[in-house]
Amino acid sequence: MNFTQLKLENADEVIQLFYSTFRASENEEEAIAVSGLVTNYLQNYPRKDLKGFVALDGIQIVGCVFFSQLNYIESDVSVFILSPMAVKTDFHGKGIGQALINYAHQELRREGVNITMTYGDINFYSKTGYCPVSEDAIAAPLMLSYPDGWLAHSLDGTSDLKIEGPSSCITELNDQSLW
Ligand SMILES: CC(C)(COP(=O)(O)OP(=O)(O)OC[C@H]1O[C@@H](n2cnc3c(N)ncnc32)[C@H](O)[C@@H]1OP(=O)(O)O)[C@@H](O)C(=O)NCCC(=O)NCCS
Repeated sequence: MNFTQLKLENADEVIQLFYSTFRASENEEEAIAVSGLVTNYLQNYPRKDLKGFVALDGIQIVGCVFFSQLNYIESDVSVFILSPMAVKTDFHGKGIGQALINYAHQELRREGVNITMTYGDINFYSKTGYCPVSEDAIAAPLMLSYPDGWLAHSLDGTSDLKIEGPSSCITELNDQSLW
């Protein structure tokens, strides 16, 4: 398995990966929503506030994860949020998801990112270092319908999991139905 940054020439393959994976794990509506989000991401890519990483089996993309910037105007801490990610259904349970996140963390750390956030299932994301945080400690950019899913990870191991002030996200995530 190889890991690399996502290139725009692989946009269609990645959109299809999100559609088929979420159709299998959730339903058609979720598949359309998530692949639509990824399509929006890739209309303006590459860019500094959005990073995509892929897992490759030969030349086939079998996993993809996106991280986008969260801005905390009262703080100089660099924060990115993981959303969404998918591993091709036939490849689940082989450690690819965790290895892809670890690769992405390494790249983000190299670029000076201090903290990564996500909004999801602690049972999976705790395997790559995420732990639950309150919105008082680290503000979410929109209202959370499932506050227990608000998770943080210190990439440098030293940053406190506490950030002053409110936050904002990239336009594509600025949609209450996603939170
Ligand atoms: C979630 C996902 C990315 C995990 O990828 P993966 O390559 O199968 O994961 P790994 O093999 O690295 O890790 C598997 C471990 O995570 C756990 N896990 C996987 N998906 C999980 C989920 N949705 N909830 C809780 N735990 C999960 C497994 O139980 C397994 O635990 P174990 O090692 O103790 O048995 C993949 O299952 C997927 O694409 N799911 C559909 C889309 C999705 O839910 N994306 C995440 C939200 S954006």
